[in-house]
Amino acid sequence: MKKIAVLTSGGDAPGMNAAVRAVVRKAIYDGVEVIGVNRGYAGVIDGDFVKLDKSSVSDIIQRGGTFLRSARCDEFRTKEGRQKAAEQLRKEGVEGLIVIGGDGSFTGAMLLNEETGIRTIGVPATIDNDIACTDDAIGYDTAMNTIIDAISKIRDTASSHERAFVIEAMGRHAGFLTLAAGLAGGAESILVPEMKFDMDKVCENIQAGYEEGKIHSIILVAEGVEMDGQEFTTNRDVNESNAFLIGKEINERTGFETRVSILGHIQRGGSPTGRDRLLASRLGAAAVNAVLSGETNKMVGLIHNKVEVAEIRDAIEGNKEFDEELYELANILSI
Ligand code: F6P
Repeated sequence: MKKIAVLTSGGDAPGMNAAVRAVVRKAIYDGVEVIGVNRGYAGVIDGDFVKLDKSSVSDIIQRGGTFLRSARCDEFRTKEGRQKAAEQLRKEGVEGLIVIGGDGSFTGAMLLNEETGIRTIGVPATIDNDIACTDDAIGYDTAMNTIIDAISKIRDTASSHERAFVIEAMGRHAGFLTLAAGLAGGAESILVPEMKFDMDKVCENIQAGYEEGKIHSIILVAEGVEMDGQEFTTNRDVNESNAFLIGKEINERTGFETRVSILGHIQRGGSPTGRDRLLASRLGAAAVNAVLSGETNKMVGLIHNKVEVAEIRDAIEGNKEFDEELYELANILSI
């Protein structure tokens, strides 16, 4: 194999740059040329390619975002779009494509391989950490630390004013990020889509805390939590967030002054943590190993601190187990 391409796609995640750096430098080490694709799958369709050498990935390991940029591409969701993309890659002499992104990006990679034969390898990168076949995805650790930092800051003002705060974290349909950040940030209540919650209990906990002398309460809510049958949708107006409904309920039921804080896209930015840089470096290099050894339609992940190669379909469709014991522990420790 002489030439491969790399792209970042879907919602960006801190550590994507470190992953691109690892792909480029490992490929060069193995004597293979690397093409960077700008703007994800949209850039493949447009032939928006740039040759990457070892210095084009200097000074990026510490940067958030993705210097290759990212996009959600409707045209690539069509068979015609994927055919166009394959033609562009063939014209460029690309023999393998490394896709750094989440489940939507992996679905694109899988269909591209199945329909056109282009070799694809996925590298999991999403703050949601909802991809099966890997313990962690790139960006999750940094986002968790961003939320923990936000909780600490909000707790300062919550205590000053003796308020309850409902804080909404990202995660799309999943609560992995919220659970980890809520436990590590010491939230009084954690609401996630995977676990049914009882509003009476949430309010009783808040009340009990205040009676025992707590002067604040933090309720960390995953954006995917459903309330009163309201479904989660992306790109909704921020005012439709269930966090506002939850905040109103708490205020009405407990009488405590309540504020709502939607953390939003701040969770997707920032310099990646050491842990994310390490993960990105290992998985980026592993993706090059996989494609050069003839693998295709696979994802590289880290399981029990070991690099593993899985079917990309299993990564997308497999059920990432929600850690109910960790959720129980969070409840026990929040008394
Ligand atoms: O998948 C990452 C993510 O940040 C989700 O947590 C969130 O629901 C979604 O992307 C937001 O997407 P966008 O940036 O397109 O609004």
